[in-house]
Amino acid sequence: MPDLSIAAPQEGALAEREAVVRVRDLVVGFGEHLVMKGLDLDVYRGEVLGFVGGSGQGKSVLTRAILGLVATRAGRIELFGEDRDRLSAADRRRLERRWGVLFQNGALFSSLTVRQNIQMPMRESRKISPRLMDELAMLKLDLVGLPASAADKFPSELSGGMVKRAALARALALDPELLFLDEPTSGLDPIGAADFDELISTLQRTLGLTVFMVTHDLDSLYSICDRVAALAEGKVIAAGTMDEMLACDHPWLRAYFHGVRGSRLVAAPRRTRGDEAEKAES
Ligand SMILES: Nc1ncnc2c1ncn2[C@@H]1O[C@H](COP(=O)(O)OP(=O)(O)O)[C@@H](O)[C@H]1O
Ligand SMILES: [Mg+2]
Repeated sequence: MPDLSIAAPQEGALAEREAVVRVRDLVVGFGEHLVMKGLDLDVYRGEVLGFVGGSGQGKSVLTRAILGLVATRAGRIELFGEDRDRLSAADRRRLERRWGVLFQNGALFSSLTVRQNIQMPMRESRKISPRLMDELAMLKLDLVGLPASAADKFPSELSGGMVKRAALARALALDPELLFLDEPTSGLDPIGAADFDELISTLQRTLGLTVFMVTHDLDSLYSICDRVAALAEGKVIAAGTMDEMLACDHPWLRAYFHGVRGSRLVAAPRRTRGDEAEKAES
């Protein structure tokens, strides 16, 4: 009985949070292969939600399904409280302007300059003068910490970290409320990844963004995510704060969080021992 009296207000408080993304009973498949098997997910306004799961489990497919880029077989996807399947094409386009996406592998157009890449979404959906588009592109570059000189470079002329920032600038082109990031720090060195995390965190706070971020990066999960959701076997098997996830006894979660943490703890002393050995030799 005492348990119930404690549980009720907590559930009430959770129900009051506005879900910017709400997915229910989602089924997605390719031929015989079911990737989502009745998946539920909420992304609350103003939070950074880290989305984890083994390779090939469907993190990118889910992202693309939410965006309407992959056909769904069953279930409901609501964005900003609107059921996407019930909207007219015009209303769907209006909705699409409220989010920005950084796809896995960056995906800038290689034949366009950084400026042209950033201006791409502006061209598609707004009538803005060329001069204003140039000013906006420079503003976005500044926002993601790229120098003005990057504007006229092609993606191949930029470092990996700069390409990610340019892709982020493009994702922010239409001042979205909601940002989808699919493994944004993969391929970056640890310092580059930490810088990028800090950038996302700063942007999230200053622009009041809601962020859905697929990541394998435990440092990102610890440092910038408010909550974490884990995908396995076509469902979200757990969602909560990092502490709640660490306390979870689901075998995959234990292997993932404790396994990787364990190996990092082993890695750190090895480096220290190396340093000491070097010192001893010199
Ligand atoms: N267009 C597609 N056609 C067929 N199978 C696909 C397609 N896209 C993804 N898949 C399959 O869906 C599963 C999930 O893929 P994905 O979402 O890319 O995984 P990850 O969690 O690594 O992002 C994989 O088995 C992948 O092969
Ligand atoms: Mg993926």
